[in-house]
Amino acid sequence: LILTQDELKKIAAYKAVEFVESDTVLGLGTGSTACYAVARIGELLQQGKLKNIVGIPTSKKTHEQAVSVGIPLSDLDNYPVLDLAIDGADEVDPDLNLVKGRGGCLLREKMVEGASKKFVVIVDETKLVKHLGGSGLAMPVEVVPFCWKYTLERLQKMFVHAGCVAKLRIISENGEPFVTDNGNYIIDLYLEKEIGDLRVASDEILRLAGVAEHGICLDMATTLIVAGELGVTIKNK
Ligand code: A5P
Repeated sequence: LILTQDELKKIAAYKAVEFVESDTVLGLGTGSTACYAVARIGELLQQGKLKNIVGIPTSKKTHEQAVSVGIPLSDLDNYPVLDLAIDGADEVDPDLNLVKGRGGCLLREKMVEGASKKFVVIVDETKLVKHLGGSGLAMPVEVVPFCWKYTLERLQKMFVHAGCVAKLRIISENGEPFVTDNGNYIIDLYLEKEIGDLRVASDEILRLAGVAEHGICLDMATTLIVAGELGVTIKNK
């Protein structure tokens, strides 16, 4: 039995939705994994198996999907504390630290998921890594468009010891910079070696004026659900 990556994402998402209870405020994640969870929550509301849910979306895209499947929505201004958030991730390390933002929604995701009592991360097994940023894939940083080249240079220099190459994220179809829901740009950091202490790296990036947020999520996830060829595993922090 060979399952596709998409089928594994769906399995992880459906498992997470089993933890959703009626009368709760839910953070709705963004991406190809989280969208299965949003669809499933909508379905359970339709069937009357879930009642009185308020969803807090982490992107404009998820907002649209949630509306289309009939999930009542609000925001952090009205609900500053969430019961549960469900979202995917790009990388997950053994301590449940994450890289997020290859979909570009890291800032809102970190605001919403950081406000949630529980944060369940749903992934297929390809997202598991030993060290964040070591996969050769992007470590995203959201920056204000003002003098983004200056910020890019500063970020690249900051991690020169890790062989960092920083690139502005471009939309491949038209060559224009990718613009986030907040009107910002994304600079992707590609690292050749381990970045070192993640907490230090995180603080250093955030101290740079021009940076809005980065995709490293430390101590946010409370539960990890991994779907793999051999089944589903659940790990609590
Ligand atoms: C969005 O900005 C990201 O943080 C996503 O949550 C992450 O990229 C996971 O997306 P997939 O589920 O599509 O892999």
